[in-house]
Amino acid sequence: MQRRKLGADLEVSAIGLGCMGMSEFYGPRDDKLALQTLAQAVEMGVDLLDTADMYGPWHNEELLSHFLKTHRPKVRVATKFGIVRKPGEYQRTIDNSPHYARQSCEASLRRLDIEQIDLYYVHRVDPDHPIEETMAGLVPLVQEGKIARIGLCEVNAATLRRAHAVHPIAAVQTEYSLWTRDVETDVLPACRELGIGLVAYSPLGRGFLTGKFQNDACFETDDFRRSLPRFQPGNIDTNRMLVNVVTDLAVRKGCSAAQIALAWLLAQGDDIVPIPGTRRITHLEDNLGALSVDLSPDEMAELCQSLEILPIAGERYTEEGMKGVNA
Ligand SMILES: NC(=O)c1ccc[n+]([C@@H]2O[C@H](COP(=O)([O-])OP(=O)(O)OC[C@H]3O[C@@H](n4cnc5c(N)ncnc54)[C@H](OP(=O)(O)O)[C@@H]3O)[C@@H](O)[C@H]2O)c1
Repeated sequence: MQRRKLGADLEVSAIGLGCMGMSEFYGPRDDKLALQTLAQAVEMGVDLLDTADMYGPWHNEELLSHFLKTHRPKVRVATKFGIVRKPGEYQRTIDNSPHYARQSCEASLRRLDIEQIDLYYVHRVDPDHPIEETMAGLVPLVQEGKIARIGLCEVNAATLRRAHAVHPIAAVQTEYSLWTRDVETDVLPACRELGIGLVAYSPLGRGFLTGKFQNDACFETDDFRRSLPRFQPGNIDTNRMLVNVVTDLAVRKGCSAAQIALAWLLAQGDDIVPIPGTRRITHLEDNLGALSVDLSPDEMAELCQSLEILPIAGERYTEEGMKGVNA
């Protein structure tokens, strides 16, 4: 397995595993299948597992705890706090107060049944608590050994710099893929300047870039994607033009569209670690196959040209959701 470094000292597999979908958002959960997928991931050399307290809540961390009972030494666990949800409701609030950071961290440690979280992310910026205040709440957790490193999700470059001035940030986690490239403007350059890694979430465009979903009818009624602007009828048709480009290239190269999407991300720099999410071994294996897909300069140029001219219709989150990103 190829390795990559996040920040000063976190070395992980070049592709991690996003565990969110094992609990909710993208169709039914199946714990047995999920645990088999986790085992196969580790067998194949994946050692970065990405979760959050609010996935499930709190099913995803509880699911991981079963796996960690036997595999803890082989993996790095990244989890997140700050998005407050009640089970069964999508309604959410943000709380990044030092008090809630400590309470959440201790609850995650208990649920995961581990001694230390390898990478602890602030899930969203909280307008009511300046990042310095949140960092001041997290630093004692590092000093006490409850968390090994601090990460931030969906921050803008200014927030990142302010946080990093309080305590080194190991990684920024943000959406980054062929159809979401906002991070390239400011955040990725700031990460590079400060020596911070970039963890790319939804690297397959929530599955869309794999070519598997032709329209919104592919999703079950409670699938989270049904609520997202890019998956609305009309927008999804426009966005399929990019998927067609990816699929065409995949056919010519004899690989899958998912592998093209991940190979493109991996080629953006060795400080980038994509964390594709899957509940199944077949998709896991497909995704890890991206590590053997080399895009030639001509193929990269072809993709780059398409990205310049093809429109992407719809924001990546609803209006409310967009308030929490690049903040
Ligand atoms: N920090 C944040 O705010 C944030 C937000 C979203 C996600 N994340 C993290 O990032 C991880 C990954 O993002 P994501 O799950 O949203 O999106 P993603 O990785 O872009 O796509 C996941 C979707 O693609 C499908 N899929 C995966 N591999 C496939 C393949 N090879 N062929 C066809 N379909 C495939 C999955 O279905 P199957 O399960 O059926 O394979 C699932 O529906 C999450 O698990 C989570 O840990 C973080």
